Amino acid sequence: MTTRQRNLLMNGLFLAACAGILLFLLQAPPETTRPLPHDQDHERFMTMQRKEAERHCDACHGPQGVAPLPETHPPKFRCLFCHKRKDPAERP
Ligand code: HEC
Ligand code: HEC
Repeated sequence: MTTRQRNLLMNGLFLAACAGILLFLLQAPPETTRPLPHDQDHERFMTMQRKEAERHCDACHGPQGVAPLPETHPPKFRCLFCHKRKDPAERP
């Protein structure tokens, strides 16, 4: 095989791998995690910096709070990465 042929083959393989990864990502299921509710308890977090807002969740959703998370809750750091705020600034 010439160097040129090998380069073509490598480029082809690279493109095929990229296409495969893209297809895989497009298969991802639609987001089902509940968004941050729009109510009195949560409204003020809609406009706050994410990191700043997340410092307050624990007051109510920690073990001693009014709405503790279930034991089966997935890893809890960065609440707002999973529980999205659906305000227009965040989601066009
Ligand atoms: C890795 C993603 C992820 C992160 C991070 C996360 N959650 Fe969740 N949360 C979920 C999923 C998944 C559920 C269960 C399915 C659903 O109800 O959407 C859930 C459920 C909940 C519920 C409902 C519990 C119930 O009684 O049914 C509350 C409240 C909640 N999360 C609050 C939080 C808070 C507060 C944080 C940050 C301390 C947090 N979550 C971080 C994914 C996440
Ligand atoms: C002042 C107390 C309070 C604070 C602070 C608070 N929550 Fe809640 N949260 C509640 C209560 C009470 C409920 C259950 C009733 C409801 O849906 O509003 C709840 C429900 C939820 C739910 C479930 C909504 C659903 O559809 O079932 C999510 C997700 C959630 N909170 C995320 C958060 C996140 C993320 C933060 C931090 C940015 C946060 N909460 C801060 C009191 C609070």
